[in-house]
Amino acid sequence: MANVLLIGNGAREHVIAEAVMRSKHNPKLFPYMKSNNPGIASLSESTTIGSYSDLEGINMFARKHTIDFAIIGPEDPLANGVVDSLNTIGIPSVGPTKDLARLETSKTFTRDLLQKYTIPGNPRYRVFSSLEGIRDFIGELDGIVIKPDGLTGGKGVMVQGDHFATRDEAIEKCREILDEHSSVIVEEKFDGEEFSLQCLCDGITVVATPPVQDHKRRFVGDKGPNTGGMGSYSLEDHSLPFMEKSDIAVGLAITQKVAEAIYKETGEYYRGVMYGGFIITKKGVQLLEYNARFGDPEAMNILPLLKTDFIDICRAIITGTLQDIEIEFDTKATVCKYVVPRGYGLPKDHPDARSTASKIEVDDVQDVHLYYSSVDKRADGLYMTTSRAIGVVGIAPDLDGAERKAEKAISAIKGSVDHRPDVGTKELIEKRIQHMKEIRG
Ligand SMILES: Nc1ncnc2c1ncn2[C@@H]1O[C@H](COP(=O)(O)OP(=O)(O)O)[C@@H](O)[C@H]1O
Ligand SMILES: [Mg+2]
Repeated sequence: MANVLLIGNGAREHVIAEAVMRSKHNPKLFPYMKSNNPGIASLSESTTIGSYSDLEGINMFARKHTIDFAIIGPEDPLANGVVDSLNTIGIPSVGPTKDLARLETSKTFTRDLLQKYTIPGNPRYRVFSSLEGIRDFIGELDGIVIKPDGLTGGKGVMVQGDHFATRDEAIEKCREILDEHSSVIVEEKFDGEEFSLQCLCDGITVVATPPVQDHKRRFVGDKGPNTGGMGSYSLEDHSLPFMEKSDIAVGLAITQKVAEAIYKETGEYYRGVMYGGFIITKKGVQLLEYNARFGDPEAMNILPLLKTDFIDICRAIITGTLQDIEIEFDTKATVCKYVVPRGYGLPKDHPDARSTASKIEVDDVQDVHLYYSSVDKRADGLYMTTSRAIGVVGIAPDLDGAERKAEKAISAIKGSVDHRPDVGTKELIEKRIQHMKEIRG
């Protein structure tokens, strides 16, 4: 028996909930959510709705249900110190304490950690707390990326060519960021293909899960504004089409060194997910950032493939015994596509960017996994909010089959919705392979 507290209410937490409930240990699930996710609720013993900053409320809920351990889905409660707070009442978590979650919440912490411990993967970078010296440093870089030092929901990073063009505009962006954040990172722009490597970590042992590629842009062909993620795919051989096998090993090696460095730096073991956002460049694999939790959508690619009991994995993370268990994934391809309201991610002045809640209907869909995100179950049916609504995941022996399953299911979802039909298609994959060939030379 295990009473599991799950914090979070998105599609990522829905797939985590499903992984928990597949366990042979007869678990009972107690979600703490910001708003009611009907998918999670349907798997649960008893749910509660509250704020992620109400640490006392979370502790009360945990005590009431004699929770054995907690799994923290999103970054906000980690940043608020929910793991530290649960620790004070003797409840361990899969997820780092506030201090260690700086791996995600402070991009300067992570860049400086790599530098201090001479871990490869950093670009040329500098951290500024005022505009002084920025112009000189920018003058030394061929391409510029500007990052606020703090959580921005994936919408804070400015890349030259996408968000600004000239050096003067770069300085203007730094000025805007420094108005809101205490510091800004200016770094060298990489060119390459990105992949997500979600690693499990007990503080000492680091285990990589299959790599995934996410699609941040709102529209087909990687056009339009950045979003929380429109879809993602993974391959049956647990690699990606543009990747060399050694690229995964490099990403894993960097993450192992980071786990060691973070222990030396803080005296505390990092217990949770270390999700590296990597980019393969001419110079090899480089680090864009770390997240201190599973990705959303990327959790939906890997957790349904998990063959090892997820509760056993959680316990191993908490007790520092990851090296004693073998973690296995099904050798299948996955394609996840997010169904979103038509106005999702559009600028506020766009005619389609209306924020009214509208109805979504899901006909009988088979042979596919559906994970609810921002949907509200009312007496007369399901309603969307302004955010991503449903993650649809096709799983098959190859990518083509997985993509077709996802598309077929999406055609059974009715409402004022949209998705990216190109995620997981041959055309898009071919573009990635070509891009990588040009870069590798
Ligand atoms: N140094 C860099 N070179 C090129 N692109 C970058 C660089 N850093 C970030 N990016 C781009 O910006 C995106 C967001 O940056 P990231 O560091 O992942 O922050 P966040 O996910 O918090 O917005 C990345 O997925 C990548 O496309
Ligand atoms: Mg990112």
